[in-house]
Amino acid sequence: MIVGLSADGTYLSSDINAVSRVATEFVTLEDHEIVRIISGKYTILSYGKEVNKVSEKITSEFQTAHKGDYETFTEKEIHEIPEVFRNAFTGRLNFETQTITNETLDALSDQEIDRIEIIASGSSYFAGMVGTSWFKEIAGIPADVRISSEFLYDTFLPSKKTLYIFMSQSGETADVRESLKMVKEKGCLTFGIVNVVGSTIARMCDMGLYTHSGVEVGVASTKNIIGQLSVLILMAISLGLKRELQMKDARELIRHLGELPEKFQKQLNNKHLLAPIIEKYSAFTNFFFLGRNLLYGTAQECSLKLKELTYIHAECYSSGELKHGPLALINSKMPSVVLNLKGVLREKTNSNIKEIKARNGIVLGVVTEGEQHQKDLYDDVIEVPTCHPLLSPFFPVTPLWLVAVGIAKKLGRDIDKPQNLAKSVTVE
Ligand code: G6P
Repeated sequence: MIVGLSADGTYLSSDINAVSRVATEFVTLEDHEIVRIISGKYTILSYGKEVNKVSEKITSEFQTAHKGDYETFTEKEIHEIPEVFRNAFTGRLNFETQTITNETLDALSDQEIDRIEIIASGSSYFAGMVGTSWFKEIAGIPADVRISSEFLYDTFLPSKKTLYIFMSQSGETADVRESLKMVKEKGCLTFGIVNVVGSTIARMCDMGLYTHSGVEVGVASTKNIIGQLSVLILMAISLGLKRELQMKDARELIRHLGELPEKFQKQLNNKHLLAPIIEKYSAFTNFFFLGRNLLYGTAQECSLKLKELTYIHAECYSSGELKHGPLALINSKMPSVVLNLKGVLREKTNSNIKEIKARNGIVLGVVTEGEQHQKDLYDDVIEVPTCHPLLSPFFPVTPLWLVAVGIAKKLGRDIDKPQNLAKSVTVE
């Protein structure tokens, strides 16, 4: 909770963004503090005693949040993705020497860690799913991701050799914050991956890296997920280099990471190619999203984005799980969006697609560009640039988010503020 201050008024909010256009300074409230506002003057009390707190200036970054040439913040924020990559890597990755140069990552590499748990909600949880695959595959560290509201009430078995990563765009999500408190009370090592600088979760963690994605106004998170993925893969490479990861493999990955901003810009420049897909698929009211292995978390995220922005029912399954029940729902009225890129169990997913087609299902494939023989499997395809297989979770998001935005527009939805949702969920 923050108190926003200006010459014209005093404001209360859970998020600096919300008051950035009316307030010039803010004060952060800690646990058990109460603010009393009388005739525009505020006093902060802790257990009945007045406390003096120094206010901080609201930086120009918050004040300049505007839509620019875009109709919505969400579209603007999706178009900022190339910049998000640059911000996440600046001062952390040296692309010339293909090395990681960061004090926090160095300090983290010196810790004795034999397991990682990522705790998060919503889109951050799905980014965490991808992160666990990277920690296992790149760093050779067992890793798991937990929904914060489940983690909080599950039996907690603390381990001093586990790194607990708390991931949150806002840094204020109640379930994540309370989980963090629980882990800290047991004296375990906590690491924050947060966007909003100075937020509660960022301040509470022992260590952390900001995503530096810039202000995210759209209620449904977009660009910050790319910032989270960027930080997660950096951590995996850095931790991996202290273990079995070979320098030549790390360099190869870093070289590919350096190409991401340009490849994403190309995807954004080609967004007009999505128009027929938006037109055709806006007619459906139920969707399956399918992906497996590294692409499962991305499929979950894209399914959530369609739900949030369009209010259309979308369910996500691991492609291999389809035959264990959900297949009963397949017919010509329920399209499946299948994420199926080169190098990520593609042959296995191809047979899942054939199972759908045999039941008159419609399949929209997200595929690697230039592979004509693959395209015949699908009713429609969205092509994404070729990439290192480990980086494939990045690529389907931009086109599928833009398809969700396009459908939401056709249906007249409030894209920046979907019904019933909040940007920072500060209650459990
Ligand atoms: C809300 C937002 C989601 C977001 C989730 C977690 O539900 O609408 O877009 O993913 O909170 O937020 P966090 O700030 O913790 O990443």
